[in-house]
Amino acid sequence: MIDKIKNHINELKTISFQSLEELEEFRIKFLGKKGLLTIFFSEFREIPQEQKKEYGKTLNEFKLAVKEKYDKSKISLSKNDKKNIFQDDLSKPGQPINVGAHHPLSIVRDKVIDIFKMIGFELSHGPDIEDDWHNFSALNFPEDHPAREMQDTFFIETNPDIVLRTHTSTVQIRHMQSNEPPIRILSPGRVFRNEAVSARSHCVFHQIEGLYINKNVSFADLKQTLAYFTKSMFGTAKIRLRPSYFPFTEPSAEVDVYWGLNSETDYRITKGTGWLEIMGCGMVDPKVISNCGIDADEFTGFAFGIGVERLAMLLYQIEDIRMFYENDVRFLSQFKFSDR
Ligand code: DAH
Repeated sequence: MIDKIKNHINELKTISFQSLEELEEFRIKFLGKKGLLTIFFSEFREIPQEQKKEYGKTLNEFKLAVKEKYDKSKISLSKNDKKNIFQDDLSKPGQPINVGAHHPLSIVRDKVIDIFKMIGFELSHGPDIEDDWHNFSALNFPEDHPAREMQDTFFIETNPDIVLRTHTSTVQIRHMQSNEPPIRILSPGRVFRNEAVSARSHCVFHQIEGLYINKNVSFADLKQTLAYFTKSMFGTAKIRLRPSYFPFTEPSAEVDVYWGLNSETDYRITKGTGWLEIMGCGMVDPKVISNCGIDADEFTGFAFGIGVERLAMLLYQIEDIRMFYENDVRFLSQFKFSDR
């Protein structure tokens, strides 16, 4: 009988299992209620007295070996089971993850901000709803002056002194009123004009204002700064400044960048000239500086205003300004992989 048990112990070493089902069969055969261990234990009574000690010892060894075999096999089989789930089918397509996209206007705005931050410009913000002083008078638009007609203004009906700002130049005034030169600011924001909505213009759009005030700022500084900007933004420093008029700058200019004439589209958007108008600029009128409580004899400066929609339309070849505000995901998702 003892030899029989020893044979079983040896047999255990050769057994292996392919599945949890096989392991369960093993458990029933060895550990079950009517299993081998139960049978051997019940035979203990029949064993002659002098063999009882050795029988008991061998039987206990057998019991431990069976348990150990069962426990270890169970652990390794269930591990394999989990592995099988992951190894199911590696060629299956993964679950798609929906990635969002930056809005094209945000991409362009942030690019402009990054470029000017590199040369020390800081952000400064002002309110969308303004008074006449910040939007017009302080910027040298005299009352009843036709220059006010350049900007179709939304007035608040009950108070003609309050307007929706027509440009971000308002922030120049606010910032100069509460800061000492040297001043280097960039003011991105929303502006409003009472205009019919079309493919080319909208009643709400975005501008970025730039202002630099310091001792001895010259027109050459302005031109150099603009060339640095177009080099960073468009890859070329080839620019030209055309004389223009803004009430708050003197002299004033429109800035054109050389876009080139490499494709039919280039001919169309540059009207066959190769040049693209990208912003307005000028030397800040001394009157505007002194309106803000800064000594215009000591300090001079330049300013510029960039239309964000216009830049984005050029850079991404967008034909209709209304697409920016329609929130059509088919349009917006095209900017997923635009670098910022
Ligand atoms: N405020 C002007 C506009 O809305 C844009 C502009 C032009 C801003 C020249 C400037 C500037 O600071 O110097 O049309």
